[in-house]
Amino acid sequence: MIISSTIKMKDEEFAELADIIYKNAGITFTINKKYLLENRLTKRLSELNFSSYKDYIYYLKYDVKRREEMKVLMNLVTINETYFLRERAQMDHMIKKVIPELVSKGKRSFKIWSAACSSGEEPYSIAILLNEEGLYGKYNFDIYATDINTEVISIAEKGIYRSVSFRGVTPSIIEKYFVKNGLDFQLKPEIKSKVKFFQANLMESLASSKIGMTDFIFCRNVLIYFDVEAKKKVVDMFYKTLQIGGQLYLGHSETLSKIDDRFKMVNFGSGIAYVK
Ligand SMILES: C[S@@+](CC[C@H](N)C(=O)[O-])C[C@H]1O[C@@H](n2cnc3c(N)ncnc32)[C@H](O)[C@@H]1O
Repeated sequence: MIISSTIKMKDEEFAELADIIYKNAGITFTINKKYLLENRLTKRLSELNFSSYKDYIYYLKYDVKRREEMKVLMNLVTINETYFLRERAQMDHMIKKVIPELVSKGKRSFKIWSAACSSGEEPYSIAILLNEEGLYGKYNFDIYATDINTEVISIAEKGIYRSVSFRGVTPSIIEKYFVKNGLDFQLKPEIKSKVKFFQANLMESLASSKIGMTDFIFCRNVLIYFDVEAKKKVVDMFYKTLQIGGQLYLGHSETLSKIDDRFKMVNFGSGIAYVK
């Protein structure tokens, strides 16, 4: 096996690339992550026949293909770790507590946005749990799922997973909703059809304009990669996109403290919801 050596990045090249990534996606890379960028970008530089990051940066900034290349760069630098029923308590809170309360007030239609859904495990988990609760057929649910990374969106659209996506999922759920084919698990059409995917960058206001006002936003394990300014921008967009009383769910290690004080924090024991 031929292992090509990584192309080394100068500190000033790192600074410029980190700035380009930050301005486009809000993702912060500090100098101790230079090795990560080197590892992830070396192959791309070779494909483009560049021997230095200086040439690549020039290409990203000025080439006619710069827009497409920015997407390629995003696909290479994002971290897409996810799995089915991850941090399930928040999904249960929405389904078993908040939705019944809204139903009792007469609401029949719900819009849910999985913002930064990676390869789809999060929004499909929501659809599976709504189905388990017997809510499909009784009420209308629109689940939208977006991510900046076009590769994970196309995996999500196929709905084919490997066992690594099922940490902690019971065999009965896997059997009920997936068809095993060799090492692959194909999500059944009845759940696959419940989620609409498209590529969207949370740093662009267009991300929410395609979705419109929504009742629930799941944006989990994303803001950890952003600095305070980028977090404020994204959360402000969420605030404007949520209906009054709408809920925002963040990852367990994420908080709105010092980011936005307009939301009411609800601690429901096994998790937190931020309510507009
Ligand atoms: C660690 S995954 C989290 C997936 C899922 N929400 C979960 O909690 O399991 C983070 C995702 O955020 C996406 N992401 C990062 N920056 C983004 C941005 N500016 N706009 C949209 N998605 C972004 C990445 O592509 C990645 O798929």
